[in-house]
Amino acid sequence: MAQKEKQVHKTQILRGTKSNFNPFHLSLQLLDLSCKRFYPPKPKLMSNTKTSQHLALVDQTLSYAIASNIIHLYSEDQKLDGRIITTNGKELINFGSCSYLGLETDERLKAGAIDAINRYGTQFSSSRAYMSLSLYKDLEIELENIFAGSVMVSPTTTLGHLAAIPVIVGDNDAIILDHQVHASVQMATQLLRPRGIKVDLIRHNRMDQLEHKIKKLQKKHDKVWYFADGIYSMFGDYAPIEELNELLNRYPSFHLYIDDAHGIGWCGQKGQGVANTFMGGQEKVYIAASFAKSFGTGGGAIIFPNKKIHQTVRKCGSTITFSGPIQPPTLGATIASAKLHQSSALEPLQESLRDKIALFNREAAIKGLEQPVPTDTPICYIRIGDTSTTFEVIQRVMAHGYYVNTAIYPSVPYKDAGIRITINNHLRNEDITGLLSCIRHEIDMVSKEMKSEKESLFDSKKFII
Ligand SMILES: Cc1ncc(COP(=O)(O)O)c(C=O)c1O
Repeated sequence: MAQKEKQVHKTQILRGTKSNFNPFHLSLQLLDLSCKRFYPPKPKLMSNTKTSQHLALVDQTLSYAIASNIIHLYSEDQKLDGRIITTNGKELINFGSCSYLGLETDERLKAGAIDAINRYGTQFSSSRAYMSLSLYKDLEIELENIFAGSVMVSPTTTLGHLAAIPVIVGDNDAIILDHQVHASVQMATQLLRPRGIKVDLIRHNRMDQLEHKIKKLQKKHDKVWYFADGIYSMFGDYAPIEELNELLNRYPSFHLYIDDAHGIGWCGQKGQGVANTFMGGQEKVYIAASFAKSFGTGGGAIIFPNKKIHQTVRKCGSTITFSGPIQPPTLGATIASAKLHQSSALEPLQESLRDKIALFNREAAIKGLEQPVPTDTPICYIRIGDTSTTFEVIQRVMAHGYYVNTAIYPSVPYKDAGIRITINNHLRNEDITGLLSCIRHEIDMVSKEMKSEKESLFDSKKFII
């Protein structure tokens, strides 16, 4: 078969559009193709600036992932139940949803959205600088019953960062970024550079490096900020909360800005999240929240330590004035979700998720698929390392009926490509054990086919962040 035909043939098989699908047959087909498997050429970085080199690498990596039918996908379902998603004509069990508690299909949240549409229409088109729908006030009151601090709702978490960070950071402050802090925080930090504000970087979660930099920077700067995530979005590990609390006590000028987008809802009393539970309400701690993940709705919030700074950002935060508001159905659903989080309905949902995460970690350990950084959050990561090998494994896992996220550059370091798996309450226990068996099998198959004795495909110790 000509190489091009083989490629089409392989794509048909992987998409499941080839009739008489048989997993054994599939393995043989792939084995046959593996002698001339299509790998992308090593990136040739012709561009001569750092930015264009970075963009060329992103473009090349993503183009290959798109051609492999593992990213930039569309769901084709007419109706979603949270567990199954159809793409490229194939039904897959969805291990790619961040709706950890499974609330996006909850009747109470749907009713909140429908009621808001019936009362206010699909849209309230006005900047919040002029007029907000009363639902905003209702939502902020509900959220202040959940979180310690003064809550400003924003259309997205990113827009919350863009409003808050340039206002809360003073001209003589210094910023220290965790290497893995979310891209949206890094983007907002870019706004500080033209003001000449010092921005420094530490390796991921390295508290020794952080303390060293605080000691140095505190001499010349009013405040020393550390920007970090509560739970990191790709590897699912936590910020070292205890150590951060100690540093807050030890250094008066040390301040924290924590993006806890992935911690809200599934974790903590009333779904307060990781950062608010352990550090909330302190004068030197600012927290960003998301309702677009575990909360089951949309939008974000910044939780300020006091009303005064909240009001300053409300007046001066550019995206609060110059971006549009959250629309009525999302506000209605988020109010319903906030009420649910304050009710007895929350604990069984959190417990069910914890059980599924524990099952995943137990089974992963049995199968030798431990996460590089052990964690008990719903974001799980299996490192493979090499990008094209990761794509090959993910294609095969999808062909067996499981949808997982591809973890590639720039979301993870180039040599840390892998499989990102998110656990949610729609999943059944047998889905979790089935997925892990499938991943183990496919990693072994690909390893054998590549005869890569030199370098095992799966080696969590090689993790380089
Ligand atoms: C940790 C973290 N922060 C912020 C965001 C951005 O959220 P939004 O889409 O609400 O701007 C994400 C998105 O996935 C995220 O994972």
